[in-house]
Amino acid sequence: MDYCSLYTLCKSRKSIRDFATTPLTHEQIQRLVDIGRTAPFASGRKNWNIHVITDREKIDRMASAVDQESAQLKNYILPEYADKFGGYANYFSLFKKAPALFIPVFRVSPTLQILLGNHCTPEMATMERDNMVKSISCVAMLILLGAQSMGLGACYMTGGLVAGQKLQKMLELPPGQEIGAIIPVGVPLNKRSA
Ligand SMILES: Cc1cc2nc3c(=O)[nH]c(=O)nc-3n(C[C@H](O)[C@H](O)[C@H](O)COP(=O)(O)O)c2cc1C
Repeated sequence: MDYCSLYTLCKSRKSIRDFATTPLTHEQIQRLVDIGRTAPFASGRKNWNIHVITDREKIDRMASAVDQESAQLKNYILPEYADKFGGYANYFSLFKKAPALFIPVFRVSPTLQILLGNHCTPEMATMERDNMVKSISCVAMLILLGAQSMGLGACYMTGGLVAGQKLQKMLELPPGQEIGAIIPVGVPLNKRSA
């Protein structure tokens, strides 16, 4: 692929949050997982995986958990900012409209913490975690572009992670594994939805 084609693909990508109910085909799902797995990765380890959720009931339960958490958080917001927060938080669960969620999941490998013991500074520990989050961002970006190239819509979402622990339980992730992002994918309902 030449630069112009790639640039056109990147420029045409926009976040899509409204989807037709049309399910993704097995081939579409596999292609998106395959392209995500080509991402570069930090610390010499692909310490992440891509979970795909197509179970409508599960997606609805995940969105409800996020909405409940947002409603709780709203109680702590200064009254003058409550409406603003409510509008912002509405975006946290918009993945509910998609027929499929691509969820990169990572596990922090505390290599420096093990090698350096007490000499591992908080900054180094943060860096080790950030490396995994950055790796996941590469995965997510490729899934977004892959979806765009296939005529599908997608959106990179992390707002739902306000309910991260509940979602981790719903996905039955083993201890230590964390959700990096939630990427709803489907046939776009409108060209652009916000
Ligand atoms: C790290 C990250 C987290 C995001 N989280 C959300 C989210 O929780 N909900 C949402 O609707 N959009 C989310 N977005 C999408 C942004 O709102 C969107 O990318 C931005 O407005 C630019 O629009 P575009 O993607 O159409 O170019 C997120 C984007 C990024 C990069």
